[in-house]
Amino acid sequence: MSRFFSRFLPAAGLVLAMVVGASAARAAEASTVTPATQAGTTQPADQPAGPPGASTLPGYLQQTNGERAQVQPGNNAPMWREIKQQAGFTSLPDPEAGVLIQPQTSYPGSASTSAGEAWRQTRNLLLIPVGGWLLIIAVLGIAAFYLFRGKIRLEHKPTGRKIERFTPFERFMHWVLAFSFIALAVSGIVIMFGKFFLLPILGASLFGWLAYALKTLHNFVGPLFGLSLVIVLLTFVRDNLPSKTDLAWLAKGGGLFGGGEAPSARFNAGEKIWFWVGVLFFGLLAVASGLVLDKLVPNFPYTRGAMQVAEILHATSTILLMAMAFGHIYIGTIGTEGALDGMRTGYVDESWAKQHHALWLDAVQSGKIPAQRSGANAQAPVPLIKPKA
Ligand code: HEM
Repeated sequence: MSRFFSRFLPAAGLVLAMVVGASAARAAEASTVTPATQAGTTQPADQPAGPPGASTLPGYLQQTNGERAQVQPGNNAPMWREIKQQAGFTSLPDPEAGVLIQPQTSYPGSASTSAGEAWRQTRNLLLIPVGGWLLIIAVLGIAAFYLFRGKIRLEHKPTGRKIERFTPFERFMHWVLAFSFIALAVSGIVIMFGKFFLLPILGASLFGWLAYALKTLHNFVGPLFGLSLVIVLLTFVRDNLPSKTDLAWLAKGGGLFGGGEAPSARFNAGEKIWFWVGVLFFGLLAVASGLVLDKLVPNFPYTRGAMQVAEILHATSTILLMAMAFGHIYIGTIGTEGALDGMRTGYVDESWAKQHHALWLDAVQSGKIPAQRSGANAQAPVPLIKPKA
C-alpha cells in the first residue's frame, strides 16, 4: 500500500497541480474573504506592505514568476504552499468553507500527500478492484457449489399439512427490505463499476443519464431500506439469539455438504450468522454511512475527511453485505427445495420443517409455539393446519 502511494502520488500530484493550478488560484483570490477585506480595506492580506514603489505581487507570485520560474519552470509549489496556509473567513455554516485545500496527511513510510488524493487512490486502486473481484468470486463460488452439490431436496414427500412460518407482516417487511436492497445493489454496482462494463456499451451520454438516474434512485431508496432493516431486525431478533444447538448445526456444516442437518429451532446457525453479521452489522454500517453521504444526519460535521471515511465504510460494508446476500438468496431460492414457500405464502410443509427446523416443529406440535400466529385463528393451539386457499 505504502509503495503504491509513494510511486503514484508524485506523478498524480504534478498532473493535478498543473490542471487545476491556474483556476484554483483565481478561485482562491475570488472566494476567500479574509479578515482584511471584511474590515473594508481593499488590500489582500497576503500582499506585502512595503514602501511605495516596491513590488505589489503576493509573495507566492514573486517566487513563482521570479527566480524559481527560471530554475524550475512550471513549478508552482510556492503558490500551493501559500494557499494552504491561508486561514479564510466565511459566514457560511460549513465547518470547512474557509479551507480551500484539504490539509496534508501522511502514511507510515510514504510521502505526505493530500487526504483527497489518498482517498481517491484507496477507492480506485483498492476498493474497486478488490470489491469487484470479491463479488465475481462470490457468484462463481455459488455457481460452482450449485453444479457440484445441486439443490438440497426434500428427503420425504410433502405431507400436505402446512405450518405458518411467517405472518403477513413479517413477509411484507422482508420483501420491502429485499426489493429495496435489490434496487440499491443494482444502482450501487452501476455507480461503482458501471464505467468498466456499461460505459463502453452505452456510450458517454446514455451511461451518464443512466448513472445519474440510478444515483438519484439510490439516494431515495436508501432511507426506505434503512427503515425496513430496523423493523426486520426487531421482528426477527428473538428467534436469532444464539443457542447451544447452533454448535451442533455448525459442526455438521448445516447439511450443505451432505450427511443431513442437525436439528435447529426456528432459525439455524447459518441464518443467525446472516442475521448478526450481514443484516445487523454490515446492514447498519451501510445505512449509517449512507445517511452521512446523503447528508441526512442532523448536526453531523460534514467535513471532507468525514465524507471520505463514510464513502470507504459504505463501499466496504455494502460489498460484503452483497456477497453474503448472494448466498442468502441462493439458499432461499434454487438452493433448497421448499424454502421460498415460507416467505412466499407464509406456510411450509411439515416434511420441510422436520428436515430443516426439527426443534421448531417440535415446539409447534407440542403447542409451545402457536401453529397459527396470524389471521382469525391467531394464538389457537391448533396442531397443524392447512391454509384456506
Ligand atoms: C431476492 C432476495 C431475497 C430472497 C429470495 C430471500 C429469501 C428468504 C427466505 C426464503 C427466507 C426464509 C428462510 C426460512 O424460512 O428459514 C428469508 C429469511 C430472511 N431474510 Fe431474506 N431473502 C432475500 C433478501 C433479503 C435481504 C436483502 C435481507 C436483508 C438485508 C434479508 C433478510 C432476511 C432475514 C433477516 C430473514 C429471517 C431469517 C434470519 O433471521 O436469518 N433477505 N429470506
